[in-house]
Amino acid sequence: MKKRRIVVTAALPYANGDIHLGHLLEYLQTDYWVRFQKMCGHECVYICADDTHGTPIMIRARKEGRTPEELIASMWERHFKDFSDFQVAFDNFYSTNSPENRELCHTIYGRLKQNGALFTRSVEQLYCPNCKMFLPDRFVKGTCPKCGATEQYGDSCEHCGSTYGFDELKDAHCATCGCKDLELRAAEHILFDLAKYRDYLQTWLHDHTPADVAKKLLEWFGEDKELLPWDISRDAPYFGFEIPGYKDKFFYVWLDAPVGYMASLKNWCDRHGQAFEDWWQNPDAELYHFIGKDIVRFHCLFWPAMLHASDFKGPTHVNVHGFLTVNGEKMSKSRGTFLNARVYLSHLNATFLRYYYACKINNTTDDIDLNLEDFVQRVNADLVGKITNLASRGAQMLGKRLDGRLGEPDDEGAALIREALSRADVIAAHYENRRFSQVPVEVCKLADAANAYFDAHAPWKTIKTDPEGTRKVLTTILNLFRILAIYLRPILPVYADAAARLFGEEPWDWAALGNPAVNRPIGTYEYLAERIDPKQVEAMVAEQKAIFEAAAPASKPAPAAAPAPDASPDAAEVPPLKPVMPFATFEASDLRVARVESCTIVPESKKLVRFELDAGPLGHRTIFSGIRSAYPDPSVLNGRLILFVANLEPRPFKKLGVSEGMVLTAGVSDTELRVLSPSEDVPPGSPAC
Ligand code: 2FM
Ligand code: ZN
Repeated sequence: MKKRRIVVTAALPYANGDIHLGHLLEYLQTDYWVRFQKMCGHECVYICADDTHGTPIMIRARKEGRTPEELIASMWERHFKDFSDFQVAFDNFYSTNSPENRELCHTIYGRLKQNGALFTRSVEQLYCPNCKMFLPDRFVKGTCPKCGATEQYGDSCEHCGSTYGFDELKDAHCATCGCKDLELRAAEHILFDLAKYRDYLQTWLHDHTPADVAKKLLEWFGEDKELLPWDISRDAPYFGFEIPGYKDKFFYVWLDAPVGYMASLKNWCDRHGQAFEDWWQNPDAELYHFIGKDIVRFHCLFWPAMLHASDFKGPTHVNVHGFLTVNGEKMSKSRGTFLNARVYLSHLNATFLRYYYACKINNTTDDIDLNLEDFVQRVNADLVGKITNLASRGAQMLGKRLDGRLGEPDDEGAALIREALSRADVIAAHYENRRFSQVPVEVCKLADAANAYFDAHAPWKTIKTDPEGTRKVLTTILNLFRILAIYLRPILPVYADAAARLFGEEPWDWAALGNPAVNRPIGTYEYLAERIDPKQVEAMVAEQKAIFEAAAPASKPAPAAAPAPDASPDAAEVPPLKPVMPFATFEASDLRVARVESCTIVPESKKLVRFELDAGPLGHRTIFSGIRSAYPDPSVLNGRLILFVANLEPRPFKKLGVSEGMVLTAGVSDTELRVLSPSEDVPPGSPAC
């Protein structure tokens, strides 16, 4: 067998958020593939890093009162721990904020310039005079020009799905500070001339990306369409690498992020006495990127064009996967299904998710569903019930009753073992071609046959009357289990290594399939996997839900209507004060805190939303409120603490029911109203004044 040299990357996670189960879909499948290659004896390195640059990280660090370097260092620790605990074995988990990355970005930039791949152009962008920065689309908010939904991003509306230019957005304001006096400022930007590489990309896409991805991207720049230049510079303030020859101009994060793959590999090479060129530039070495379908534009257009234009070798293939849904729907914070890696780990074993994902993942870009009931069922019925039981029943019986010594299989057993081994090439091909879901299918079929043999021979009945015959049966069962555990090792490394210890063996490689365990002692059975109690899953979802509920009010961006500290709102928009009110009148009002159980649109009305409130000891309240134009999707209020007038005379709304109070809001116009929230440490029912 020819030894292959393979570099594998998974997309670099942003350093401004925690790892969640959606991320893990990618890191786990990449890990299965890499571990399989290593088991086959190939030289394979799994490369990753934190993606550390860009505006969101800069802003978050500012808000948290620390430097971006401090923020990314602490996120690196968190990410690294999450990955390790999920048994993701990177050969190098590095950072894009590294000297190697800076140097490689400079090299690539120099070559791009030299090869005529870049040009400069004046670009107009919104500028916040209060934050003193240019605003990326995600940092501008306003009213959607198509549907009128407020608080939408500068480039697209989450309410109606339309996309638009920031100049079309109405009431544009800075999402960070609320400032409305945004300026349109021009600055010189550096652009990568993508159109120059049109012919190259056309061929490249066919050969190096999945057919559906190539088809989609090619549609974009078909004969009649323009391949737009790509803006690779950003102006200060920006957290990133300054562009050589410029002051206050930085590489856009999406330029230095994929270069981070090279930099992480370079760092690994330096630490292992290897030459970077022998890995990246070597024509015999293979390079695979695993990515989600949301970032194909960067990996299948800009990146290969950039590598080509700077005389670097491009990827052998870009493997693209779909998104994760949970219980058939987009992951949802309010339902508690936006599951964080750490929350999962505090309730469940990583091995279970590794097994379940393997059952679902294949080499297509289709979305993958984590159905939580099915998850429990598959782990319990297959991994524990079918596979692990072979080891626990077999090893414990052999250990307790037959001195823990393996003999040799009988003829029937030997035939079963041969049959199990005959699937090795098929299973290897499934791994190689990333048809991971077929591996558990094959393994479970073999486990069914092993369990049928076990039950037919009923060793628990024969152990007294025919101990040596029973030893043969148990030897067969344990060898069958051993084969299955070797097959599963890329997916379940910790599980398989514990199984190897049972047989007194070092961690298995693929060749270990050829060495049956006969005529020798086995070790003591140690824990491999036990059934999931559905309550563990319920507790995990509840914890995740509670975390988001607690964080929601605090993590909301500053209300749009709130003026920036040094920018006063337009005086004309603020209504004049009402006449003086006697103190007693004010005292008569009883303001209370409540938690929004749900806030929904009232279909019969254009203005109203319906609040269902938990007011603690005061009980449940229903309140109709005319804030629909400010909250086209009022469910964003679910889980929030709010303030309401609790002793207002109940007010009937025709056909809808009775409104039992009034929710407090603030804002200068109907569309800009914001529901007021007390801080999270005030329990529902508390009085306010
Ligand atoms: O989409 C993302 O999460 C990016 N941080 C992925 C970067 S992958 C590579 F290009 F660095
Ligand atoms: Zn601002």
